[in-house]
Amino acid sequence: MRRKLVVGNWKMHGSRAGNAELLAALVGAQPYGADVAVCVPGVFVGETATQLTGSAVAWGAQDVSAHAQGAYTGEVSASMLAEFGCRYVIVGHSERRQYHAESDELVAAKAESALAGGITPIVCVGETLEERDGARTEAVVTRQLLAVTARLGARTSEIVLAYEPVWAIGTGRTATPEQAQAVHAVLRAQLAAACASGAQMRILYGGSVKGDNARLLFAMPDIDGGLIGGASLKAAEFIAICRAAS
Ligand code: 13P
Repeated sequence: MRRKLVVGNWKMHGSRAGNAELLAALVGAQPYGADVAVCVPGVFVGETATQLTGSAVAWGAQDVSAHAQGAYTGEVSASMLAEFGCRYVIVGHSERRQYHAESDELVAAKAESALAGGITPIVCVGETLEERDGARTEAVVTRQLLAVTARLGARTSEIVLAYEPVWAIGTGRTATPEQAQAVHAVLRAQLAAACASGAQMRILYGGSVKGDNARLLFAMPDIDGGLIGGASLKAAEFIAICRAAS
């Protein structure tokens, strides 16, 4: 039985005062019947760690360097994140693929670098609306995941995968549970082909998940939780989603 995981991706939102309030609410609502985490902007990782240490809520970052250390101005390494207790880091989010031209190969290298630093990468894959309309969804997510499994080999078992259809992100247009499940099943088969524990790995769904649609999504056989954007910024909404995963 896979334990569900709900991860908040704050993206570039938050403030020191606002974060403290939101995190206090999340801690106050524990225990959860699922694993819960927040991936915060890098500059807030330290304070988040201080506030969440000893709680049931884990924390992480939204990006990591593909390099271990060196002259890479502006980058943050996995070992730096690990020093601040990060359990997770998101890699390959569509916003990074789109606005920062991250290739499948770079995403794979970042996933590898996260694992080397002792952090679980949450690897995001997902198709654009144009790709879906062109019936290329399966080909696109398969290509994106293959770059990662080819690089990680047996260590693929240590990642969390997230399916985030680009057309559902921040649009209020959620994939139906059936649409999401169909892609998750394809990804599950691919994971199982790549490593022995594919059946035990968690595949999250992300894209306009809210308190009122989470339960039906999480009820699908291959949906093991969610990667939550906008709704993770509102305590009551995020807590409702965490409860739906319980
Ligand atoms: P929304 O939940 O705001 O659609 O964002 C999803 C997402 O991109 C999470 O990584």
